[in-house]
Amino acid sequence: MLDKLTNLIHATVEIAKEKDLRKMLILLSNIARKLLDADRCSIFLNDPDTNELWTIFAHGVKEIRIPNYVGIAGHVFQSKEPLNIEEAYEDSRFNQKVDQQTGYRTKSILAIPFVDRKQSPIGIFQVINKKTASHFDSQDMELLIHLSLYAASSIENSILYEKLKHAQEDVVFRLSHATGYKDPETKNHIVRVGLFCQLMGREIGWDEDELEIIRLATPMHDIGKVGIPDIILKKPGKLTDEEFDIMKKHAMYGFDILKGGESKLTQTAAIIALEHHEKWNGTGYPYGKKGEEISIHSRMTAISDVFDALTSERHYKKAWSFEDTANLLKEESGKHFDPKLVELFISKLDEIVLIKKEFHDEPFKGKD
Ligand code: C2E
Ligand code: SIN
Ligand code: SIN
Ligand code: SIN
Ligand code: SIN
Ligand code: SIN
Ligand code: FE
Ligand code: FE
Repeated sequence: MLDKLTNLIHATVEIAKEKDLRKMLILLSNIARKLLDADRCSIFLNDPDTNELWTIFAHGVKEIRIPNYVGIAGHVFQSKEPLNIEEAYEDSRFNQKVDQQTGYRTKSILAIPFVDRKQSPIGIFQVINKKTASHFDSQDMELLIHLSLYAASSIENSILYEKLKHAQEDVVFRLSHATGYKDPETKNHIVRVGLFCQLMGREIGWDEDELEIIRLATPMHDIGKVGIPDIILKKPGKLTDEEFDIMKKHAMYGFDILKGGESKLTQTAAIIALEHHEKWNGTGYPYGKKGEEISIHSRMTAISDVFDALTSERHYKKAWSFEDTANLLKEESGKHFDPKLVELFISKLDEIVLIKKEFHDEPFKGKD
């Protein structure tokens, strides 16, 4: 029992460290299986939008969803009382459909409710088929309840974190599209440049947080175009020098829009907006910064943005081939672009092309 408790304590530290909900649930179910000598473990979380309990690791089946009042799981969820069942098939509450779907044979089940900090039920936690005995005992029940108590707040946090991430992603893409009403760039342009930069970051060895930041910060690079008059933004042909001087202000406008944000995401996005037209050799705008004076996020965005702009049709130009575009990047290596990053980008061209194809644009409808 003592080493089980020691394991339990170590386990909860591991769980608390994991922010990703799905990874955490897998971790938690592995811990529960080991701790209770169970053959299987399923954690069902309630989806309040559909009143369903869902689980991702009923082995072999991707996701199982059941109404939150059906079966042992539903019973425990509704009653908020644990159940310890020796022989599932002799219990009329048992829902044989899950076994039918998975081809598994359930015998003993121990299921307890999962509650959040406010004691509201968020799901249920069940272990199936005790391996070292015919069924689970009261000590198992105690362990599982302890584990669920420790895990509940971690789960709650990661559910919140997930909601927050979705909300943040939603805001980013909505904001980035704000310019779309004026600028005929497509919705997928901003998705693609984020993914190109993320791919480069992954090659460099950035961690998941950094990768998520660049994926979401890069799409905001042209947000300052909201401040540019339509007559220039939508001009079908080449810009005059005066018009281009006005156009260049979109970098500073974007910086001004984003710089007040307190998160790492908006701060990174602000710098990218400011610097994405700077060039490695110092001939870019707005400041003529050069080399590593330009942040690495902005140097990555410059390559991604130009690559995507060239390989897309714009209202002022036709789409270039991948080959011509790759050649331009090489030609501009050490001039417009950071040479190391060009090399990295070119080495990943196959994956870049896949992203371009997966997030392709609707056929260009012409000027509006
Ligand atoms: P954008 O369309 O998103 O283009 C981003 C960058 O891709 C450009 O930054 C440029 O570095 C590169 N790029 C795009 N098209 C071409 C091309 O045909 N040839 C070459 N060599 N590079 C290209 P840049 O030049 O600072 O332009 C910033 C923004 O100004 C562009 O964003 C676009 O909205 C506008 N713009 C630039 N040139 C023209 C133009 O001739 N006509 C119109 N209507 N807009 C233009
Ligand atoms: C039930 O909750 O009745 C069955 C769930 C399962 O077998 O995983
Ligand atoms: C959106 O349009 O808000 C989402 C962009 C995307 O991920 O395709
Ligand atoms: C545009 O961004 O102006 C059009 C790009 C496209 O539809 O490929
Ligand atoms: C363009 O004006 O189409 C691109 C100008 C450039 O080469 O930077
Ligand atoms: C500025 O404050 O306008 C420039 C900030 C920077 O160069 O990073
Ligand atoms: Fe730009
Ligand atoms: Fe762009």
